[in-house]
Amino acid sequence: MSDKPSRVALGITGASGALYAVRTLAALLAAGVRVDLVVSDFGRRLLTDELGPDAAADRLGSYLTARYGVAIAPEAFVLHRNRDVGAEIASGTSPCEAMVIVPCSMKTLAGVAHGLSRNLIERAADVALKERRPLIVVPRETPMSLPQLRNMVLCAEAGAQLLPAMPAFYQRPATLDDLADFMAGKIVSCLGLDQELFPAWTG
Ligand SMILES: Cc1cc2nc3c(=O)[nH]c(=O)nc-3n(C[C@H](O)[C@H](O)[C@H](O)COP(=O)(O)O)c2cc1C
Repeated sequence: MSDKPSRVALGITGASGALYAVRTLAALLAAGVRVDLVVSDFGRRLLTDELGPDAAADRLGSYLTARYGVAIAPEAFVLHRNRDVGAEIASGTSPCEAMVIVPCSMKTLAGVAHGLSRNLIERAADVALKERRPLIVVPRETPMSLPQLRNMVLCAEAGAQLLPAMPAFYQRPATLDDLADFMAGKIVSCLGLDQELFPAWTG
């Protein structure tokens, strides 16, 4: 993908790795991307379980400002309800140019792989695939069952890009933030955006 998206849908589901999600959201907003955010019920739980009560989905704007110093304009992102399959991003006419699901649970992965559209995250992903728009899926589970592996293949065959939550260690990460920076940097880079979250390998 060469064009830089100006509007991206971001789904946060109930897999471990909430830090990847908030780092990605902060990076997108810092890049001036308008974000349509959807957080599943278990995504909400994992945000507060892993990051604390200040990271509640409804308070993410102030959380990002406190953690990353990102100034958030009121129109920078909108939080949709996952049950609202009538939201704008549920339609192919939506101006959203790409979608990211980070982290992606095995349940949502299955829903995307099989086109179930049971909620707004799955429906928006289905729309991205049918409209041939970039869909980046960041699954997290270990070990993985054969159905889970097959669901990743189905998503890839349908056009999604799979970025398993597998941060590298050749950058010598010292903190959890370093690991999250690596994943978020990979995600924004796959969207065609410039990333400075981790340095390029220079050989
Ligand atoms: C603390 C906790 C951690 C979890 N971690 C994972 C995980 O890493 N990967 C996964 O696929 N599911 C994980 N789950 C299970 C999912 O949250 C569960 O399957 C949920 O129904 C997913 O729904 P969602 O995709 O709508 O968010 C976890 C659940 C809890 C409570």
